[in-house]
Amino acid sequence: MQQDRERWDSRYADNREAYPEADEFLVNNAPLLTGGRALELACGLGANAIFLAQRNYWVDAVDISEHALRKLRRRSLQLEIELGLVVGDLDYFPIPERIYDLVVVFYFFSQSLITAISNSVKSGGHIVYCAYNHFHRSVKPDFKPQYLVPKGGLAQLFPGTQVIIDEPEAGPEMNLSRLIARKL
Ligand SMILES: C[S@@+](CC[C@H](N)C(=O)[O-])C[C@H]1O[C@@H](n2cnc3c(N)ncnc32)[C@H](O)[C@@H]1O
Repeated sequence: MQQDRERWDSRYADNREAYPEADEFLVNNAPLLTGGRALELACGLGANAIFLAQRNYWVDAVDISEHALRKLRRRSLQLEIELGLVVGDLDYFPIPERIYDLVVVFYFFSQSLITAISNSVKSGGHIVYCAYNHFHRSVKPDFKPQYLVPKGGLAQLFPGTQVIIDEPEAGPEMNLSRLIARKL
């Protein structure tokens, strides 16, 4: 959606913020992840994509914001890392089926993407997901409910997986839902 693109582009146009670090949930659980082909959805500045590319993954990274991906491209060139970068709106983006060993999504939730995420992972591959749950409305009251993980957490949304870590209410504010699952 054009409005989303503009909103995120203007957020990423701000150059004052330091480049983010990979998310601690991914970093702490990296030993579970052994390499191959990975996809990061709604990657933003792509700190997680960079982290994975430095650990035996060939990473495709998708985001609606061209600004974010331009910055990520610059960063990857500085670090001499190759990434497959795609500017795309996930409301319409065709996620390829059964080609990824790992799909990661951080701080982006859309119920309509769940089946496509599950289908994109090969048997034996992993899904790493972290997004806000209903407690996030206490932290940010105007956060749109459709972007929140449903009560009960992420695991229930991924049948056909072996759940390795299921944290429906995590983080200091309990406002995160986190999952690591292995596709059967
Ligand atoms: C909260 S940020 C999270 C970014 C990154 N995953 C992270 O953890 O730093 C949400 C991201 O979703 C992207 N986004 C929002 N709507 C999108 C859409 N429809 N398609 C693709 N990306 C989208 C934004 O550009 C933004 O980078």
